[in-house]
Parts: sequence; C-alpha cells; structure tokens
Amino acid sequence: MTTRRHALHTLALASAAAALMALSAPAGAQSQKLKVGLMLPYTGTFAALGNAIENGFRLHVTELGGKIAGREVEFFKVDDESDPSKATDNVNKLVKRDNVDVLIGTVHSGVAMAMAKVAKDTGTILIVPNAGADAVTGPMCAPNIFRSSFSNWQPGYAMGEVVAKKGHKKVVTITWKYAAGDESVKGFKEAFEKGGGQVTKELSLPFPNVEFQALLTEIAAAKPDAVYTFFAGGGAVKFVKDYAAAGLKKSIPLYGAGFITDGTLEAQGDAAAGLLTTLHYADSLNPPRDNAFRLAYAKTYKLQPDVYAVQGYDAAQMLAIGLNATKGDVSKKAEFAAALQKAKIDSPRGAFTMSKSHNPVQDMYLREVVGKENKLVSVASKGLTDPARGCKL
Ligand code: PHB
Repeated sequence: MTTRRHALHTLALASAAAALMALSAPAGAQSQKLKVGLMLPYTGTFAALGNAIENGFRLHVTELGGKIAGREVEFFKVDDESDPSKATDNVNKLVKRDNVDVLIGTVHSGVAMAMAKVAKDTGTILIVPNAGADAVTGPMCAPNIFRSSFSNWQPGYAMGEVVAKKGHKKVVTITWKYAAGDESVKGFKEAFEKGGGQVTKELSLPFPNVEFQALLTEIAAAKPDAVYTFFAGGGAVKFVKDYAAAGLKKSIPLYGAGFITDGTLEAQGDAAAGLLTTLHYADSLNPPRDNAFRLAYAKTYKLQPDVYAVQGYDAAQMLAIGLNATKGDVSKKAEFAAALQKAKIDSPRGAFTMSKSHNPVQDMYLREVVGKENKLVSVASKGLTDPARGCKL
C-alpha cells in the first residue's frame, strides 16, 4: 500500500512539475539556443560570396558575446550551390528537419525567391544578406521577410544616371540571363533612357556560364559608346579579364553594378584598373564605424572585407535589433518588424533605414578601381529607395 501511495505521490509531483514547465514554456524557449539557419553558396561561382557573408555574420555575433537577445546562437548550414532547382528542398532541410528559428540567405536571386516562398508560407523570419531579386521586397514582400543588402534595381538605376550624365548615348548590356541580370539591366535602362540614352542591344548567357567570346565579338561589331554589365564572383573575374584581353577596354568603356569588382580585384589584376561601378559600399569610405569593422574583419579572418561581408554583418545587426525588441521571442513578428522599421542600422556602409517593403534605403556610391581598391568617387544617388512595385505591406 505504501509503495502504491508513494507511486501516486510521485506521479502527482511529476505532473505538477510538468504543468509548471508548460506554464513557463515561452520563457524556457527563449533561454534555449537560437537556431540560425544559414543557407548560402559554399561551392560554385558564388562560393567566396557565401563565405564572406557567413564571416560577416559571425563577426557581429562574436561582438555580441555569442548571444543574441540573451540566447546563445547555434548555426545550421546548407550549401545551396546557387541552384534554384534544389532551393525548396534545401530550405526545407533547415525549416523542417533542423527546426531553425530564423533563416539567413542567400546570394542567388532565384534561390532567394524559393526561400522567400517558404518563409512566407511558414512564417519563419528571413533576412536576405545579398540576393537582389526585386520580387522579394516587391510582390513577395511579407511582414517576416527583410533584406540587409539591396534590390537589383538599386545599383543598376544609379549607374543609369551616371552613364547618361557622362553623355553616352548608345549602350549595349551584357549579363547572365536570370532575375539578377535581367533586373540590374532593367534598373540601368530605366534611368539611362530617362536621361536621354538608349540601350541598343541586351546580350546575355545562361547562369553561370563564362563563355563570353561570341558576345564580346558582337560588342566589338556593334561599337556602342559604352557597355553596362552585371556579373559577380568567379564569373565577374573572368568577364573583366576577357573584356580587357579582347582589346575592348581601350575603346569601349565598361560600367557595372559594383559586384563586377567587389571581392574580385585580387584575381582580376590590371584588367580591372580604372573601372567605374556603383554600389552601396566602397573600400575608402573612411568613417570610424567602417574602419573599426574593416580592422576587426581583417584581424579575425586575415582577409579584406567586401560588400558581402558587410551585408552578412548587417544581417546579424538586424536580427539583434529585432530580437532585442521581442526579448528573443521569434514568434512576435509584429514587434520584430516594428523595431526594424524604426531602426537606423549602423552599417559600415553608412547608416541605413528599412523601407516599408523591408529593403535598405541607402546611398549608392560611384567607385573607381585604383590598385586593389574600389575607391569612393562620389555619392551617385543619395538615400535611393527601391520602388517596391507590387508590394502590399
Ligand atoms: C543575385 O543573384 O541577386 C546576385 C548574385 C550575386 C551578386 C549580386 C546579386 O553579387
């Protein structure tokens, strides 16, 4: 009898403890580790970009003592290979298998659109640390989706104004045929044609091909006043070298979204000298905030930072701003979004704010390649805001 009474007593105690635990579950959940899912390219033409984003993100987490809003950060990683056909399966590995609290990714616009769809369907917080797909902060915009980088329209539009002001009239464009290339060219064309120029030919090749020769021959034959381009990563290295080797650099000035020369100068060597590009970062901005970031990054990784490192760093800053407002609770999405909406994000690129569609409102810099640096020439476009066409937020 006593054993039975003892057993019942134990049972009652156990269920009381269980009830208590259930009551305190939300607080318990927040004292648990924060599971951060990194979906980035670690192989292929964008591998260096993925690594720089992760480095930047981790640098800020380290500055925060390894914790965001009191929760120790635990990383889960997937190599998305910049392959849109694998993107939905890859993002579901993080969301369904690993049960991550937040998603950070990615570089490639096509892959990012699949991530945005899953984030929208599941309500998971997503911060995009590169991919510029206009749709992510356009028709697909959502209360739980944010970008720490840019829209493809932004650097393109800024360069369209620059090239028009230089008095060039006829421009040929060349890029990869996918969302990022198409939208970068579209942004360029919008501003360039508004400024009196004309895009006479739009050349492209499939991503991530680098067989540029036939297209360079077409450019030589067309003899435009200038060329506008979007390439990035390994493809950008080869394009700039091939453009110079074909003898075009001397006769037809090449302009680009800044990705063409960001993180690539070491490999491009002299072929990149003097190129003018537009981007939301430069190597010689020189405010104390950027200098401190560059020093910390170089010390930690024995590498110079680039725009991708900055975007990764700022994704971590944004996550911390949002989660500090919710005391680490990822389910409080309205509070998370409200905190970011009113934040001034203290980026190495210069402070920026979030547009209503959750894309950075930021300065676009005109830069020139001098030595191994994308040197600041001027602010091409101050506080440039993506038009966010199709976003209903
Ligand atoms: C993109 O696919 O959106 C993309 C990729 C690489 C860049 C910029 C944009 O450097």
